[in-house]
Amino acid sequence: MILNHWKGAGKELRGRTDVYFSVLCFVCRVAASIMSLFTLGVFLGVAACASSLNNGLLRTPPMGWVPWERFRCNTDCKNDPDNCISERLIKSMADRLAGDGWKRLGYEYVNLDDCWEAPKRDAQGRLQPDPERFPSGIKALADYVHSKGLKFGIYSDLGSATCEHYPGTPLEALDTDARTFAEWGVDLLKLDGCFSNSSTKAIGYPKMSLSLNKTGRPIAFSCSWPAYEGGLPPKVNYTLLGKTCNLWRNYLDIQDSWARLFRIIEWYGDHQDVLQPAAGPGGWNDPDTLIIGDFGLSHEQSKVQVALWAILAAPFFMSCNLQTISEEAKDLLQNPLLIYINQDSLGIQGRRITKSHYFEVWKRPLVDGQYAVAIMNNGTDGMPRPFATTAGLLGISDCPAGYKIYNVLDKLFMGDYRLNDTITSKVAPTGVILMFLRPRC
Ligand SMILES: *[C@@H]1O[C@H](CO)[C@@H](O)[C@H](O)[C@H]1NC(C)=O
Ligand SMILES: *[C@@H]1O[C@H](CO)[C@@H](O)[C@H](O)[C@H]1NC(C)=O
Ligand SMILES: *[C@@H]1O[C@H](CO)[C@@H](O)[C@H](O)[C@H]1NC(C)=O
Ligand SMILES: *[C@@H]1O[C@H](CO)[C@@H](O)[C@H](O)[C@H]1NC(C)=O
Ligand SMILES: *[C@@H]1O[C@H](CO)[C@@H](O)[C@H](O)[C@H]1NC(C)=O
Repeated sequence: MILNHWKGAGKELRGRTDVYFSVLCFVCRVAASIMSLFTLGVFLGVAACASSLNNGLLRTPPMGWVPWERFRCNTDCKNDPDNCISERLIKSMADRLAGDGWKRLGYEYVNLDDCWEAPKRDAQGRLQPDPERFPSGIKALADYVHSKGLKFGIYSDLGSATCEHYPGTPLEALDTDARTFAEWGVDLLKLDGCFSNSSTKAIGYPKMSLSLNKTGRPIAFSCSWPAYEGGLPPKVNYTLLGKTCNLWRNYLDIQDSWARLFRIIEWYGDHQDVLQPAAGPGGWNDPDTLIIGDFGLSHEQSKVQVALWAILAAPFFMSCNLQTISEEAKDLLQNPLLIYINQDSLGIQGRRITKSHYFEVWKRPLVDGQYAVAIMNNGTDGMPRPFATTAGLLGISDCPAGYKIYNVLDKLFMGDYRLNDTITSKVAPTGVILMFLRPRC
């Protein structure tokens, strides 16, 4: 059976989550004393709303497009006009997001990354874009993006310069830059951390959070802070981070390779006891952009990235060329059930529950007693490997009547399973099976 009934359902299913969440947050404020009566899922939700930045933004992980992984600091518009960092590139990606079915599914942010700036601030000390590559200015670009029903994100760096040596945002400029971004109509700021030390970061990130708040414009705040401090306590305080930022890069930049992707996945698994409780509505761990549609991953490896990013409640920020993306890659990124899992309203990050030589099993609890389970095979020995389990063995037994199970990425209904029925799947080398379990109760 093909999952036709999920087609186009992303938006509708997402709509419901908001209602659920306001109820949950209400519960968390008035009923802390009877918390022990609630299920684990609600408990984790409570912990998340208690600690997240109070700007009402990113109640589910953000979705959209970011240039960095694919387009880097290409500023050569003379020789490479289609691929240089310019208003032309941003506008063409906005056109694709709005025109090719992305926006409808929730991909709504079009972001700039490094290398948009002119080499110097203007006479009033404000950041300004490169005049040749952004001749209409950033406000006009943001207006264009908004006119497509999308949101606009920008980049700066807490420090004396950005990583690519454009003007940074030092402590003295936090208020000025926040005001400039608000005046331009920015909806999200990514603040990188090159060229500043740990003490400047410890002052600057919380201060920028306040500066953004003071502008009165809702601007989601993506912090690279933990990535510069090794990503782990005691150097990183995840409670403080959750009060400061909506999103934070914890670890290495992604590169266009399976080796780097696998290394990132392993790091999130190895440190899940710290990372998993830190995530929730309004504040997310960010393992970096999706590289599906680029050069380095096979189709099976691309499935691994989307499956794990959905389990991890990670941002779905694509970094590929939406003008030339293959139908196969697009079909994967536009899978409505995949997006439904990623955008689940409880916002509980999943965990790696077992790991053996070839297989890793990851599990994420979802709203209404549903679950997502990813079975990843990291072997490279040619042949798909069979993996057998049961719902009971996966620790999924709240519904005694069992579960309907869907193979999300192959768009197949696998069948009805009792708790002790064997679930068998064959998992391709460096591949994954992503299952969605729906209670039959
Ligand atoms: C960090 O950088 C600031 C600004 O450059 C400097 O004043 C301060 O002394 C530095 N702190 C440490 C511990 O190096
Ligand atoms: C600023 O912070 C206050 C208090 O946390 C919050 O109620 C308000 O919505 C925030 N405003 C913006 C624009 O982020
Ligand atoms: C982490 O930050 C929170 C919130 O600011 C603070 O209450 C707590 O004491 C900090 N924890 C550590 C270990 O510094
Ligand atoms: C898969 O992961 C396991 C555990 O980390 C490791 O022992 C094994 O070598 C990995 N296999 C491959 C092919 O990388
Ligand atoms: C599986 O559970 C059902 C009841 O849910 C029971 O009738 C059946 O005997 C069990 N089968 C095995 C192999 O344990």
